[in-house]
Amino acid sequence: MNSKLIAPSLLASDFANLQRDIEMVNKSEADWFHIDIMDGVFVPNISFGMPVLQAINKHAQKTLDVHLMITDPDRYIKEFANLGADNLTVHFEACTHLHKTLQSIKSEGMKAGVAINPHTSVDLLKDVIKDIDLVIVMSVNPGFGGQSFIENTYNKIQRLKEIIVTHNAPTLIEIDGGVTDENAKKLVKAGADVLVAGSFVFKAKDSLETIKNLKKIANSK
Ligand code: DX5
Ligand code: ZN
Repeated sequence: MNSKLIAPSLLASDFANLQRDIEMVNKSEADWFHIDIMDGVFVPNISFGMPVLQAINKHAQKTLDVHLMITDPDRYIKEFANLGADNLTVHFEACTHLHKTLQSIKSEGMKAGVAINPHTSVDLLKDVIKDIDLVIVMSVNPGFGGQSFIENTYNKIQRLKEIIVTHNAPTLIEIDGGVTDENAKKLVKAGADVLVAGSFVFKAKDSLETIKNLKKIANSK
């Protein structure tokens, strides 16, 4: 069994001490940096954009997992590649020509991800599943950190796993929103490969220890 990955979401970091928080993640047992880009249109919030990503990339020494919560993401694919994104995830609900968008992301040398909102059925991904490197199953409504986990997510993960196995697809399942040490094991059991955690990591007293523990729980038998 492949090792399960932990991706702290910098949305919950202290932006006035961004370098310090990035170094903490570099030092930790975390695997990826999860980076949330919001445009105030696709979601009712604006997070940060290109100059901040550029600053993150200067210090981050792990995979940059960029989650775009923006409309018409095709406009910026090349730019995100140039800014150092390793994984680029677009929202299913924001793409009219998803298959084409996935090919464009890959042609820029990045892994291509699709995120789905809580109301979007995983079955809608069947026809492109072989083209998707990772699916972000949103376990909260996108736009804000610190929300509570939506329980139906477990069913979605199980169904998505079936689809991936049936199609012999290489797709990883990533869970985003409300992840804690209490649901981590159940998420992995349902089929999750990557756990994003924002508030749970950055609002903790000891973030390094929290990451270590989450990684241990996710990979325990
Ligand atoms: C929500 C973002 C998440 C968020 C998770 O729109 O996509 O990545 O940072 O934050 P927590 O872990 O606090 O729910
Ligand atoms: Zn996210």
